[in-house]
Amino acid sequence: MEEPVKRLPQTGIDRDEILKRMGEYGATDADWREARTWSLVYYLGEKHTAFLKKAYSLFFSENALNPMAFKSLKRFESEVVRMTATMLNGDSRVVGTMTSCGTESCLLAVKTYRDLARAKRPWIRKPEMVVPESVHVAWEKGAEYFDVKAIHAPLTKDFQVNVNAVRKLINRNTVLIGASAPSYPHGMVDPIPELAALAREKNLPLHVDSCLGGFLLPFVEKLGYPVVPFDFRVPGVTSISADVHKYGFAAKGASVILYRDMRILRHQFFVYENWPGGIFISPALLGTRPGGAIAAAWAAMMAIGESGYLDNAKRILDITRKLIDGINTIPELYVLGNPPMSVFAYASRQKDVNIYAVADQMEKKGWHVDRLHRPEALHAIVMPAHENILGRYLDDLRESVDYVKKNPELATKGGAAMYGMISQIPLRGMVKSNVLKLMEDMYGSEARLPEFDEPEGVEARPADLTTRLAMGFLKIRNRFRK
Ligand SMILES: Cc1ncc(COP(=O)(O)O)c(C=O)c1O
Repeated sequence: MEEPVKRLPQTGIDRDEILKRMGEYGATDADWREARTWSLVYYLGEKHTAFLKKAYSLFFSENALNPMAFKSLKRFESEVVRMTATMLNGDSRVVGTMTSCGTESCLLAVKTYRDLARAKRPWIRKPEMVVPESVHVAWEKGAEYFDVKAIHAPLTKDFQVNVNAVRKLINRNTVLIGASAPSYPHGMVDPIPELAALAREKNLPLHVDSCLGGFLLPFVEKLGYPVVPFDFRVPGVTSISADVHKYGFAAKGASVILYRDMRILRHQFFVYENWPGGIFISPALLGTRPGGAIAAAWAAMMAIGESGYLDNAKRILDITRKLIDGINTIPELYVLGNPPMSVFAYASRQKDVNIYAVADQMEKKGWHVDRLHRPEALHAIVMPAHENILGRYLDDLRESVDYVKKNPELATKGGAAMYGMISQIPLRGMVKSNVLKLMEDMYGSEARLPEFDEPEGVEARPADLTTRLAMGFLKIRNRFRK
């Protein structure tokens, strides 16, 4: 492996040479083009990607920080927001902004409702929000950044939030209820109508995090599949986030946050009038806002259109159905809950088949597999491109399960041992402080993924961050044991 670059090259390197080198660096990355990944990349084929790149490059240099200078970007943003609002059955009072990602949209929801409460209920000193245990981790980040305590409501056996538990957790400090449509871990839509009724009864806002489903569920419903009502048709839903860069098939850097009306959105805005640089306004979190991402989101929505999104949804659901049916024919495995769209998790029903050991075998066969902690399970977000590899995936899964069954000691080796241990360490504070140390290594002056001595019986898989973190824990644990 070449030494990492530590200073600017004395003179600039030939641009073709640089591009060649970049291609080489990327060669060992997860292979999303061949549909080997089950998250991270939402891919609709080369033709669409080439089109997105063109749309992006047209506005590559423009900056949506100043809508007066780039009226085109303001137009794209307004139209993306309006199209999304209409898709989610909002009326003309629904307003919003584009953001750079789902996380930014969720962070802004937390900030906005904190500030709404500050304006309306200024006596609240320690604001809280009630969110499902399965809510995306972006909400925990929002809690930490904006000092709004996240109170977690447990799930039912169907992996939806327990509404009675939410009711009990609401108190005088509650400023917001959050819910998912669907949740990342289990792909389930929370019971939005019941939560919305509760929110109305308690006079609280309800944000529906539909970052994952916002551009798919409306079409799933139109195709006639059962979908829990989750959008602005439900009175009591006060805001929704939906990511264009997920199932909207836009370029990365595009999400939308919508509020029922301007009385809420105004608390998202930032204005500073005393800056020597002039009066500063900012609608969302970022300062400079890349014009390309906004332009490409608009272009994607215009190019795909209602019929394209419907076709995609049909394909994606067909593939998902085949996958879930295939997994359910493997007697040792089962799919969690009854997920309504294309995000699901599956676990082992037998002690002798360790699901993380199955993941290790799948990785050996070239799949990039995502693992869940609670419960221990594997995770999948289905893309149209998975159509071509469906059979191979299921064959590999069957083979992996058989192999693990015949070799139960695999549960105590490799990634399986480490993931199993990480999910079971009871002292989560210790986990956090050690992960922070590892991050300091990663982002320190050497800026490398941390290297660990491999504890006995552990095969290193250096590309995998969690494995590296787990190796660190093993090392710490071994030190205590000595
Ligand atoms: C429900 C949900 N909310 C928020 C996010 C965060 O989105 P992003 O990764 O674009 O920040 C995700 C990401 O998968 C998600 O599934």
